[in-house]
Formats: sequence, structure tokens, C-alpha cells
Amino acid sequence: MTDQKVYPVRDDIAANAWIDREKYQALYKQSVDDPEGFWAEQAKRIEWFKAPTKIKHTSYDPHDVDIRWFEDGTLNASVSCLDRHLETRGDQTAIIWEGDDPKDSKHVSYRELHAKTCQLANALKELGVRKGDVVTLYMPMIPEAAVAMLACARIGAVHSVVFGGFSPDALAQRIIGADSKLVITADESVRGGKQVPLKDNVDAALTRKGTEVCENVLVVKRTGGEIEWKEGRDLWYHDLVDKQATDCPAEEMNAEDPLFILYTSGSTGAPKGLKHTTGGYLVYASLTHQYIFDYQDGEVYWCTADVGWVTGHSYIVYGPLANGAITLMFEGVPSYPTHGRMGEIVDKHKVNILYTAPTAIRALMAHGDGVMDSSKRDTLRVMGSVGEPINPEAWEWYYRVIGNSKCPIVDTWWQTETGGIMIAPLPGAIDLKPGSATLPFFGVQPALLDSEGNELKGAVEGNLVISDSWPGQARSIWGDHDRFVQTYFSTYKGYYFTGDGCRRDEDGYYWITGRVDDVLNVSGHRMGTAEIESSLVAHEAVAEAAVVGFPHDIKGQGIYIYVTLTEGYEPSDELKKELTLWVRKDIGPIASPDVIQWAPGLPKTRSGKIMRRILRKIAANETDGLGDTSTLADPSVVDDLIENRANR
Ligand code: WTA
Repeated sequence: MTDQKVYPVRDDIAANAWIDREKYQALYKQSVDDPEGFWAEQAKRIEWFKAPTKIKHTSYDPHDVDIRWFEDGTLNASVSCLDRHLETRGDQTAIIWEGDDPKDSKHVSYRELHAKTCQLANALKELGVRKGDVVTLYMPMIPEAAVAMLACARIGAVHSVVFGGFSPDALAQRIIGADSKLVITADESVRGGKQVPLKDNVDAALTRKGTEVCENVLVVKRTGGEIEWKEGRDLWYHDLVDKQATDCPAEEMNAEDPLFILYTSGSTGAPKGLKHTTGGYLVYASLTHQYIFDYQDGEVYWCTADVGWVTGHSYIVYGPLANGAITLMFEGVPSYPTHGRMGEIVDKHKVNILYTAPTAIRALMAHGDGVMDSSKRDTLRVMGSVGEPINPEAWEWYYRVIGNSKCPIVDTWWQTETGGIMIAPLPGAIDLKPGSATLPFFGVQPALLDSEGNELKGAVEGNLVISDSWPGQARSIWGDHDRFVQTYFSTYKGYYFTGDGCRRDEDGYYWITGRVDDVLNVSGHRMGTAEIESSLVAHEAVAEAAVVGFPHDIKGQGIYIYVTLTEGYEPSDELKKELTLWVRKDIGPIASPDVIQWAPGLPKTRSGKIMRRILRKIAANETDGLGDTSTLADPSVVDDLIENRANR
């Protein structure tokens, strides 16, 4: 059984690791027995204007969900990430930037990053951005993205980063939702040798009703490609920023003042803007980055995520920079110009720690072991995985081929809502089992519940909840605290509900089995089925649509769509193409349907609820175990769907 395969902690890693077995056990115990004492000590790892004396004030009571950490402390996140390193490592590289074109790369030192951040902060002030205002970032993977996040933090503005692959409509929705006065973008981004028209997308977004709140667009010149220009609204980044002073006082923020909003998909409704605050988030991002990757001074660390996702926030920008690390930021895609690119980047910049996603590993694995022949990767020491469950085959391949059978893999389970990693092996302390995220980080108390909310003990499978707060936890949903309470704290009273299913084995190891709600995870990207459905039904040919996930070799999950056509429309391949384009345009390419099946009817209960369980089984080609269909209003629709299933 793959379950039983164990990779013990390597002696060479344990000998120098921050945390070994004994320390893990002792610190974990302290962190749950005495959270106040533990976190008071850990808070010292970042810079405070005024150190906190009140450590933890958290309630999961659904009538009063209230989460505060370090609430009387004051700080500025950019000071911990920049100013405090100036004396000790001002000339050390903070960011290694690797462009889409393998010939493009540069190093930005902590001193330079500090100066650039201050300049942009001064420019933001000139534009009238004030403490508490929300600035939307729609950026390529260039150092200016990190600069923009830190510059917002510097003046107490709240950043809301929108992934550059989202459509104008998705961007507009997020600008409106956050009441954002300013968008920072670039003329174009470059990925895989192709230009992506970011500024055009912003222009299109700003024609949507409700976006009038946005007064200015600040544009980084990345490619010099042709763009439209709206006088009075649009400003070149270099015109405004380069002339500014390279120093800017850091705004004194309360620990519980918001640092950023980040939109993510849920099982119902529009994407929600999770609110993360300053003190707890930074302590947690920094601590997890140091211990889980066992980051040692001077090492080159590369997280392949995009800054548009939480992984980019916590583990490209805030965690590594708070730790004075060298963080690599890659503009392109792992398959360009060849599939050997990832390994070549590792060799070129002597990367020691690599953090990537199972979908990227599976995509490489599909090309065979030879895909890594163009690189040696012998600088690698620790490797990480994030975003979705990693299947043991992909884990083994990652370990053997990419890591030359010598690098521990930290499979890190966490979420946009958790701010930082929650369950993962510490490389010097915890034996690995391929496919398992293993054991909880300090202060994290996972539990498994049955559907009635009873806590299950021992080796079992259940719904994953967390029984107490940790500092990195999201505090609310921007502008909708009720939804926050409803989504995370009302299903199981007294717990934070993750939305994931999970199994615990006889060693207490956690194995995440995937979402138990209507959220899809496609190539590590979270997507709500409801979002895709509402996009589809907005098309005149679609009377009704149901979206489910199905197992996909590379993406983990693919998007399977059942469409009932409006009367007068006939099924055709052209219409399939049209609907595919429609969704891509409406949400973004990451939401592209993989399979569309015409469904004359959908399986519904007599009360009209679509039985997704059945649709998921048909999409997965598991039609033998459909279970009870007798409660359906019209069981015969199921036969038709099986007969005509599109995923053969
Ligand atoms: C899934 C990404 C298994 C999970 C950091 C979670 C994982 C969702 C893992 C959050 C992992 C993330 N093993 N599943 N190591 N990491 N997930 O908010 O379903 O984009 O709920 O945060 O991804 O996705 P999000």
C-alpha cells in the first residue's frame, strides 16, 4: 500500500534544521497548551512600533465570531519586510526576477526594494490614496507587483490583487466589491512568449457600471506594446514614481488593521474578498516560511505561484521578505521555451528550495524523465507542493526526478482563508508519506467531524475543521461579515470549517481528500461551480446548466458541464465552442470547460434540487455506483445522461 511507504527524516537535514523531532513535539505541545505564551514569544520575530501585550482574543461562537491577535500592538508590515534588513543585509538580493525570456533576469537588493517601495508609496500619496483605501493590483509577475503590495502596506492602504488571467468582468466585479479608487497594472504581461493585454482588460473593466469609483490607472511599461490612453485617468508609473523621494515614513498600523483583501471562490454566489490583517498574518507567514521550508540564511528560495493567489502573497512576498530571504519571482510558464525550463531556472539561480504545484509536476511527468535532462538541480535541498492533493505517483516522480532522490517534499495544506500553511511536514522533524500533508503546524488543531458534527477519533475519514484560531486566519469577508460567519462557522458550531474532506491514518497523519462542497480545484485554481453556472445561464441558448468536477490526469480536476438548451436551440459543435469561449471571456481562461454534455433534463429531487452526486458519478464514468435514484422527480433523465455521456 502506498500509505505505508515512509521516507524517514534525513540525518543531514535534521542535523542543521531549525526544528528537529524533539523540538517539534515540545513546541507543538506548548502551542496548543499555552497559545498565549507561545504566540507572545513568536510575535517577537517581526518589528513592532509598539509590542503587543494582548495576544489572543478569539471567538468562534456563530453569534459573535470575533478573531483578534496582538490587538494592542502597532506595526507596519513593510518595515519588517524592508527597513529592518537595511543594516544587516541591505545589499543582499531580496528578489531575483527571471523573465519570460530566459535571457531576461535581474537582482533587486533589499536597499533597492526599500527605495522603490518608498517612491511608489509617495506617488500613491500624491494620487490621494489614504490609509484604509483599497488599491487593486492587476499585474504581471514583475518586481513592481511586490513593490506595489509593499507600498500599499507602507501607507496603510489595503491591496486587492486580482490574478492577471481574470477577465475584464471578473476584474470589474472585484474593483466594485472593494470600492477601489486606483488600479495598478502594466501595458501587457508576457507569458510563454505571448503578450497578455492587461491594460486593455482594465480599460474594458472600467466601462462596466459601478466602476466609476476608480479614479486612476497607474501603468507600468512592461513591453511598450500599443495601448489606449485615457487622459486624466491613466498615468505612467515611471512618470509619476521615478521622481519621488526614496524615503517615506511608514504608517503606524494596528495589528488588526487590514493588510489586504484577496478574492476567492466559494460554493455559492460571487467570489468573496477575504480580509487579512497585519500583525497576526505577518507573524504567521514569516514563521511558517522559515520552519516549513527550513529556510537558512542566504538560500535561494523559489515559489512558482502567481502573486494573484494567496500562495504568492504569503510565500513569494510577505513570508520570505519578512525573513530576509532571497525570493525568486518568475514571470513565465514552466513549459516555455521548453519543458526543461523549471530545472534550468533552478540551475541558473542555484535554487535551494523549490515550491510548486502538483499540476505542474504532472504536466512535466507526462513528458517522461528525459524532460529534466537539460538541468542538474543539484543545489536543491527542500521541495514543496501546494494547491491540491498530490497523488503518490506525482510525489514519487517529483522526489526522484526533480529532486534527485535527496530532497524532502513538504506537502503543504492550507487555504486563502488560513493565510499560511496549516498542515505540512517540517523537513527535519517529520517522516514523509507520499500523498499525505502529514501533521499540523504549531498552533493548528485539526479535527474530523461526521456530517452531524460529532468529532471522530482515531484513524477515520471526515470533514476537516480547525478547533481553535491561529494568527494567520482571515478575519472576515470584506463588507459581509454575516457571510463569513455563515460560510465558515455555522456548519459546525465552535469550529472553523475548511470545506475539505480528510482522512487520518493510524499514525495521526492527515490525507486531504478534496473539497466536500461545490468548489472545484482545477490545476490548483479554486473555482465555484455556481460562478460557472451563472455565467452559462446568461447565454441565451442555455436554459439550465450544472457544473461538476471530474478526475483529470494533469489538472487534478477538469470542468464538466451539463447544458439544457433553451427551446429553439439545437446541439452543435459550434455551440459548444461558443459556450466555451463565453465562459473564458466571462471569467477567464482558467474556467474553460473541458467537457460539455447536452442534457435534455437534469436529475432533480422532487423539490427541484439538482442531484450533483449523480452528475459527478456520470462525469467520472462511475455509473455502476449511482446509489439511490428513487427520490428523483424523473429517474429516466439519468439513463439519457449515461447513454450520452461525453467523457469516454
Ligand atoms: C486545496 C491555496 C490537498 C484544498 C493555498 C483547499 C490542497 C484549497 C493542498 C485551497 C494540499 C491546497 N493538499 N489539497 N497540499 N493545498 N489544497 O484557497 O482543497 O487557492 O481547500 O489556497 O486547495 O485553495 P486556495
